Amino acid sequence: MSALVELNAEIERCRNCELAKHRTKVVPGEGPENARLLFIGEAPGWYEDQSGRPFVGPAGQYLDQLIGMIGLKRSQVFIANVIKCRPPDNRDPLPGEIQSCGKWLESQLELIRPKVVVTLGRYSMAKYFPGESISKIHGRARRVNNIIYFAMYHPAAALHQGNLRKVIEADMLKLPGVLAEADAATEEKDKPAQLTMF
Ligand code: URA
Repeated sequence: MSALVELNAEIERCRNCELAKHRTKVVPGEGPENARLLFIGEAPGWYEDQSGRPFVGPAGQYLDQLIGMIGLKRSQVFIANVIKCRPPDNRDPLPGEIQSCGKWLESQLELIRPKVVVTLGRYSMAKYFPGESISKIHGRARRVNNIIYFAMYHPAAALHQGNLRKVIEADMLKLPGVLAEADAATEEKDKPAQLTMF
């Protein structure tokens, strides 16, 4: 069994917070263990809770289209969420739930070691761009050690506010350049850990 399959099985057994009582299925995330690009959403919604798969409802269909815009298939990227179980009535995740679920996302990042992590929406942005606002930093990247974090609006926000579609699509089209930047940085040997916005 691969390390990622084992980790997913462990996540599926998690009962570390109250959300375990309300869920139908845990939604650990999905994608290849060697994915270069990893997307982090907020939390499963109704469709995801029913199926155990991330981003399979309307926001997910739009995310698939966005991924297609940069010539990739959904099966080539890893898709995860900050929270692995659906909050009742799709309420916002609570700080304690984000805290207790955090170790699963960290373990996924350690195993997959993607080149670029894309945060979708406020909750995943807050993890990697603390204190920032999405309207200010969407479409911008920050490098921490050897991973580049790139902030985007949540696809559901663009579905609800039509004017955000152009913005999210323009940000998506920057990703091939960000990936190329990440590859170039990896080739520079012995580069010290650093934090850069560009
Ligand atoms: N919204 C999210 O943030 N994640 C999902 O998996 C689905 C919708």
